[in-house]
Amino acid sequence: MITLRSPAKINLFLRILRKREDGYHELASLFQAVDLYDTIHFALSNNDELSCTDPSLPVDGSNLILKAVHLFRKKTALKFSLKARLEKKIPHQAGLGGGSGNAATTLWALNTLLGFPVMTQDLMSWSSEIGSDIPFFLSEGTAYCTGRGECVRSLPPLPPQSLWVIKPPQGTSTPDVYRRLNISQLIDRPPEKTLQQFLEGNPDYYNDLEAPAFKALPELAIVKQRLLDVGFDQVLLSGSGSSFFCLGQAKEKIPNQLIAFPLKFANRLSHHWY
Ligand code: C5P
Repeated sequence: MITLRSPAKINLFLRILRKREDGYHELASLFQAVDLYDTIHFALSNNDELSCTDPSLPVDGSNLILKAVHLFRKKTALKFSLKARLEKKIPHQAGLGGGSGNAATTLWALNTLLGFPVMTQDLMSWSSEIGSDIPFFLSEGTAYCTGRGECVRSLPPLPPQSLWVIKPPQGTSTPDVYRRLNISQLIDRPPEKTLQQFLEGNPDYYNDLEAPAFKALPELAIVKQRLLDVGFDQVLLSGSGSSFFCLGQAKEKIPNQLIAFPLKFANRLSHHWY
């Protein structure tokens, strides 16, 4: 049996470039893992079985943990079953990649429990079949991601940074946010240049999904303004929302109805998990 932490992520910037023929959107984004973790206990077993501390989450084949188990079995043709217990802490419908991180953690756990039959690079490329954000979670925690998110360019860790992740009570649906995106209204910023600015220590935080997320859930624009009013220097939606990450210090109390996590960037060492 092994127990692993499954991290969350934020998008330090997120640029949407175009809509593709297959319905997905071509994006370019700087992804960063943060030290907000679910905990997952794994053991090889006679049957696949998933349980979770959060009763609102499905524990059937629609859960990305079980999708990852099926994917690993299909790709390796190995015979095994896995029992997993998920202690959920990362909010869902939050743009924090909680489910994607769980899938990546499951692939890492299976590879460990089965004696490392697969290279991490292969886990990464397989994992894009079950979700665009999963390959990122097999990087070492900082990566520039393109394509539909699955083309991962791993980067060295950024300078350490304290931040707050703030989750409003309402969640957003990723497909709904993408549906509301009006590409013609986006500012034409070259993402490679934004990446360069981050690497040079002169960051430009933006997220092209903020406008459509605010259309889907107008309360989010009010939450963003409130967080700027309490004194944060930067407040940016993570992914398709509904959570924000905030840089700087609040000079007033963060409103009670918002869940606030004080966090740091998280990176793993190669050959070790988080
Ligand atoms: O790949 P994943 O299952 O995480 O994507 C969920 C949904 O988000 C897709 O069905 C699609 O509506 C939207 N999406 C997109 N472009 C991306 C990633 C996701 O339109 N690059």
